[in-house]
Amino acid sequence: MSWLPLLVKASYFVAALLFILGIKRMASPKTAASGIRWAGAGMLVATVATFFLPDMHNIPLILAAVVLGTVVAWWSGKRVAMTDMPQMVALYNGLGGGSAAAIGAVELLKFSAATHAGPFPVDGAAAAGIPTTALVLAVVGALIGSISLTGSVIAWAKLDGRMDKRFVFPGQQAFNALVFVAALVLGALVVWGLDQPAIIGFFVAALAVGVLMTLPIGGADMPVVISLYNALTGLAVSFEGYVLQNEALIIAGMVVGAAGTMLTQLMAKAMNRSIASVLFGSFGASGQAAEISGAQKPIEAGDVAAMMAYAERVVIVPGYGLAVAQAQHKVWELTQVLLKRGVKVKFAIHPVAGRMPGHMNVLLAEAGVPYDLIADMDDINPEFPTTDVSLVIGANDVVNPVAKTDPASPIYGMPILDVVASKNTVVIKRGKGTGFAGIENALFYADNTRMLYGDAAAAVGQLVSELKAVDGH
Ligand code: TAP
Repeated sequence: MSWLPLLVKASYFVAALLFILGIKRMASPKTAASGIRWAGAGMLVATVATFFLPDMHNIPLILAAVVLGTVVAWWSGKRVAMTDMPQMVALYNGLGGGSAAAIGAVELLKFSAATHAGPFPVDGAAAAGIPTTALVLAVVGALIGSISLTGSVIAWAKLDGRMDKRFVFPGQQAFNALVFVAALVLGALVVWGLDQPAIIGFFVAALAVGVLMTLPIGGADMPVVISLYNALTGLAVSFEGYVLQNEALIIAGMVVGAAGTMLTQLMAKAMNRSIASVLFGSFGASGQAAEISGAQKPIEAGDVAAMMAYAERVVIVPGYGLAVAQAQHKVWELTQVLLKRGVKVKFAIHPVAGRMPGHMNVLLAEAGVPYDLIADMDDINPEFPTTDVSLVIGANDVVNPVAKTDPASPIYGMPILDVVASKNTVVIKRGKGTGFAGIENALFYADNTRMLYGDAAAAVGQLVSELKAVDGH
């Protein structure tokens, strides 16, 4: 082996180390940003090293693709709103699956050409010198990558509000199973004979499976689905890495696959859903959800400020609306005023508050809220009964008690923050709008709940001014 391929392999090893160390650093909010940079550096090392592999062709075309991809990703990454991040993750993740499927397609067509070269077709892939393992993995990787591509595009369209949240028809699961079996049979035919019509049919069926699988999934299950496709993309990349005999792809794919699988399980657990029920069941909602009686009771900012000023314990519950209003800095200002008065303040974070994993943690960290004020759902739930005021800011589904009380509710079974158990609750939201799941919230009608209507940033700003007035500043 000459020194150049050796150097490439050594660079892949360095890249793999950087990926793994990067992921490790992403486990804590304090080191997460540097973790992203480490993993990015790993990707740069792997990409540059690849150009030095022997038999690299079409360098100008590859460079053009790299430049185009970098410009589009840089531009879209800079301008995407934090609240639209899940859509973007879904789309980019789908493109990863698509890339793996494209590698599979190119390799299978190459294998096919080698098998059918010359006036007399070679008898089978083995005779053409194509290892069966490589052939099988090319097909499996292409199947998974294709599903991930079209599934993620549908997830993106749903999250971006371009498509109805759920699309169901009678006999849907049986029909989907049929198309999946067709994709498997065509995949087996590809391995068997490497005929071009079988390859084309296989890809059409595989792409259709991704669309069909994702159409009936809706609402609150979408983050789990995106994370699952993320894991599948990793697996597909790693299989195609084996076909290309490229260590960097194998390792990067495995890391993404493993991390995605763990995230999927964590999120499913946080929503009390099994992966199978996400994919093949509908989310709750079998019967008619119970009517919620009573009325929402409004309150003025001055009264809320007085309640909080003389409270011993305040728990702030941030949700998607806080992110939309970009109210995190105002909320930290409010917290500081309360802390100065001797009020004990904590933040309660639900695992799926907002629109992406860790959404609220990222926002609060951006505003400078210290980590020791932030509590997870399991830690804070026992503390609500002794909390004088819970201040819910733009959160809805994650504090909805019907998740525990109404078996007919679409979110029944999802663990929630027990805000309803607090002595007093104040909810900041603009009006009577529903949350992501599109259902009424019993907390807003509870006896000890008051509604402070308004944009989160403006309302919290008012609270800060009122509290400062209480202090005589
Ligand atoms: P949501 O249930 O989506 O409720 C957000 C609330 O914020 C709405 O009721 C809305 O009411 C209010 N709001 C919107 N803009 C506002 C503004 N500018 N100022 C004040 N309030 C505003 O939020 P959540 O409680 O955070 O729950 C998250 C939901 O998203 C869950 O159902 C979850 O499953 C789903 N989801 C989560 C993720 C992840 S991984 N976190 C990903 C996808 C989906 P008004 O219109 O009346 O203001």
